[in-house]
Amino acid sequence: MKKILVVYYSQSGQLTEIVQSVLAPLKKNENISVVFEEIRPQKHYPFPWSRHQFCDVFPEAFQETPCKLEPFGFNSEDEFDLIILAYTVWYLSPSIPVSAFLQSPEAQKVIRHRPVITLIGCRNMWLLAQEKVKRRIGAIGGEIKGNIVLMDRAMNLIGIVTIAAWMLTGKKDRFLRIFPRPGISDRDIQESGRFGNMILEALSGEKMDLDQQALNRHGAVTVIAAYIIFEQRIHKVFTIWSKFISQKGGPADPQRKIRVRLFFYYLLCAIILIAPLATLVSWIVKIFNRQKTKTAVAYFSQNQPKTRTE
Ligand SMILES: Cc1cc2nc3c(=O)[nH]c(=O)nc-3n(C[C@H](O)[C@H](O)[C@H](O)COP(=O)(O)O)c2cc1C
Repeated sequence: MKKILVVYYSQSGQLTEIVQSVLAPLKKNENISVVFEEIRPQKHYPFPWSRHQFCDVFPEAFQETPCKLEPFGFNSEDEFDLIILAYTVWYLSPSIPVSAFLQSPEAQKVIRHRPVITLIGCRNMWLLAQEKVKRRIGAIGGEIKGNIVLMDRAMNLIGIVTIAAWMLTGKKDRFLRIFPRPGISDRDIQESGRFGNMILEALSGEKMDLDQQALNRHGAVTVIAAYIIFEQRIHKVFTIWSKFISQKGGPADPQRKIRVRLFFYYLLCAIILIAPLATLVSWIVKIFNRQKTKTAVAYFSQNQPKTRTE
């Protein structure tokens, strides 16, 4: 009997649907037992978000500052054959509850010397979040054997508008009836069961053997070259903003209210003015730096972390 631990945190339930779809073939198999662990923060994160709350979580999400979690249901002494870590991205980082899990003593025990598969459900910017997760899992002594990413297929700017409307209203509807439905398509979620079949096959051997390239041939990871440069640029600006806001206090501190509001206006300007320009610049850089771009795409399509910090 093979044992799998699935750790996840979802607000709207979108990631939960993905987890259920991927795990469906494994749950049906009588030689596999699956333990689901839904991470529960002690202080609930709102959904839908108010504009202020959405921006106020930014510094801690970006800096991977953990929140307090309710005790886990799984036994961290158990030796699982595979850990599946399903997470969403908050500000180019794993969501705060997932960061908290990765920094918990229980994660250290349960992940050490174990194969891990990461399963991401996000809008479209996950590259640098996965770098942070790679580093954390590597530091604990786990080994990422596979990465599966499901994302919104809408164009970047359209995706920003539709996801903002969804996050701030809680309604996964077509914004103003002219925009596409936000988030990951139902079809992509339903079809993600194919990855479960591949995991099942990999688990049937003595040693968990999953090939990222094979996963990628089935669409597990698609790296959009322009987003590499885009994310790296945003990351630099976010570093400055997160320090600027945290100087005034921790989560929900009234002292940092003005700075959080300024950050909101920055985001607004960035979306309306900077994003289209940056997209254009990223495409141009991509054209002139073909070899560098190719190397970067290859790097983000696999699971080894960089040896030096970026
Ligand atoms: C505060 C916040 C920040 C987010 N930042 C990003 C991001 O940087 N990149 C991205 O692709 N998606 C981002 N998203 C979208 C989430 O990754 C995710 O797709 C969405 O919240 C739905 O997840 P759920 O299953 O928890 O409801 C963000 C969402 C929230 C709430």
